[in-house]
Amino acid sequence: MQYNEKLQTIISQVAEIAGYLWERGWAERNGGNISYNITEAVDDPIRRLPALSDRIVLPKTMTHLKENYFLVTGTGRRMRYVCSAPMENASIIRISADGTYYEIVAEKPIQPTSELPSHLTIHDYLLGQGRPNKAVIHTHPIELVAMTHNPDFLGKDVLSRLLWSMIPETRAFCPKGVGIVPYTLPGSLELAENTIRQLDEYDVVLWEKHGALAIGEDLIEPFDMIDTLSKSAKIYESACSMGFHPTGMTEAQMDELKQAFNL
Ligand code: 13P
Ligand code: ZN
Repeated sequence: MQYNEKLQTIISQVAEIAGYLWERGWAERNGGNISYNITEAVDDPIRRLPALSDRIVLPKTMTHLKENYFLVTGTGRRMRYVCSAPMENASIIRISADGTYYEIVAEKPIQPTSELPSHLTIHDYLLGQGRPNKAVIHTHPIELVAMTHNPDFLGKDVLSRLLWSMIPETRAFCPKGVGIVPYTLPGSLELAENTIRQLDEYDVVLWEKHGALAIGEDLIEPFDMIDTLSKSAKIYESACSMGFHPTGMTEAQMDELKQAFNL
């Protein structure tokens, strides 16, 4: 199918980021998923597309997503193949005029990710608040997930402070830190609801013993935040494996950064 330039740019970005997730080792088998609100890029030829699927009822009414369109990676699809053939491994869905169901409209009837409840609940919530975020990434970054296995790190902002203190970039480019969602069944509405509560304060959330989820105006921004936090986690791991506990930057050094960069 021929897509307009705006849509083509979004599809290329999904492919680019999916490739990074695979290269980073965060996307074993079908691990991870991506969604992108493409409504602004949708033109008449797409609006006229007939449904390729039955009406699929949503777990709750998405009040703010009525007649919105999303590019969503397919369930069971591998990120490495989303990279090489995006429209063979993702589909475009249209939310109904009453926000209660969706239909797949392009390009093939590829069933969306099992984490669709979280993705759509997040888009619905953010749009309702007038926030500009269009992209959601969920992935399985090794060191960050490992850190969620330590109960000592799960208290509010404990992990944020530790990760900030590993390298100035993390303090500068992830100024909000990371939220934590206690272990919740993957794909559940409960996971979605627990996640949106964290998004009031954070742009990156760690799902305990599972993965990371990040939001952004495009996909580059949330990928970079997970990547930067992951760098800090690797530095921490590296120091521990050298046999010492890293001292980390001091509170005063982090405050100095906060002022210098207006964070
Ligand atoms: P999907 O293949 O359904 O996207 O699931 C992958 C995943 O990471 C679930 O949390
Ligand atoms: Zn997952």
